[in-house]
Amino acid sequence: MDLGIKGRRALILGGSKGIGFRCAELLAAEGADITLAARDGSRLAAAARAISAQAPDRRIEVSSVDIASEDGFQRICSLDSVFDILLIMMARPREIALDALNRADYGEAILAYGANATMIAHHFLGGMIERRFGRIVSVLGTSAKAPDSSHIVSNAARTSHVAAMASLARNVAAQGVTSNCVLAGPTATPTLRKNWERRAEDLGLSYFAYEAQRLERTPAARLGQPSEIAALCAFLCSEHAAFVTGQSIVVDGGAHASLF
Ligand SMILES: NC(=O)c1ccc[n+]([C@@H]2O[C@H](COP(=O)([O-])OP(=O)(O)OC[C@H]3O[C@@H](n4cnc5c(N)ncnc54)[C@H](OP(=O)(O)O)[C@@H]3O)[C@@H](O)[C@H]2O)c1
Repeated sequence: MDLGIKGRRALILGGSKGIGFRCAELLAAEGADITLAARDGSRLAAAARAISAQAPDRRIEVSSVDIASEDGFQRICSLDSVFDILLIMMARPREIALDALNRADYGEAILAYGANATMIAHHFLGGMIERRFGRIVSVLGTSAKAPDSSHIVSNAARTSHVAAMASLARNVAAQGVTSNCVLAGPTATPTLRKNWERRAEDLGLSYFAYEAQRLERTPAARLGQPSEIAALCAFLCSEHAAFVTGQSIVVDGGAHASLF
């Protein structure tokens, strides 16, 4: 399927590895020009080289920023604002244990993570509305729909973004701009592997025993692949997805069991 995005410009926050990088590869293959943003400059450069090698006719740029910082927020917003597509891999705040939770740290995390992501999207909306085309896709986890007992701060920051984006989407739907969230289940990225290895060790389990435990309630009985999450993101960025907006779509091998 031709996604109809040849010549469009895409900004991918968190595009240097994992799901974001797969999204960048797919969009570049479809003819979009790409700007990747993340903190680690050398990883960004390697990602840009890899994408350029696959799509040599596309313009690939990088921006080394921490999107959860004030400076990073300002630098992203000072980029040339002609992006048609914005993909947000939601960065997550450091978790605060229940007994250490306090108003200042909680507020700071919501501002740095939830509000920054939302206001970056808000910043690029004007240009999208002007051109009567815009696609915003935020990628986060299924905990945004079904929070468990852990990650109190991260859940709150992320869910605030989901709620704001769903409202924002309905304000701009008539101007050709869509905004959707993709809620991924456990996906085989190096970050997940590292996190699960740490948890397995804490519990005195092997990685594979821990993984089996975590996947017990996943009907697909496996981790997702970054390319499977990216494929949906790419479709939501396409011209064909013009009538899908304000939605949060779960991609988790059937683990989230609800009719709607
Ligand atoms: N993998 C999973 O199992 C899973 C499950 C559910 C949801 N998700 C969600 O999917 C998204 C991508 O996950 P992933 O597993 O692909 O992650 P990943 O492989 O760790 O990649 C994260 C990307 O975001 C960048 N990043 C992180 N914090 C940043 C910050 N403060 N400022 C700028 N860039 C930042 C990273 O680069 P730098 O580190 O260089 O900044 C990297 O490019 C995230 O929102 C994640 O929560 C993932």
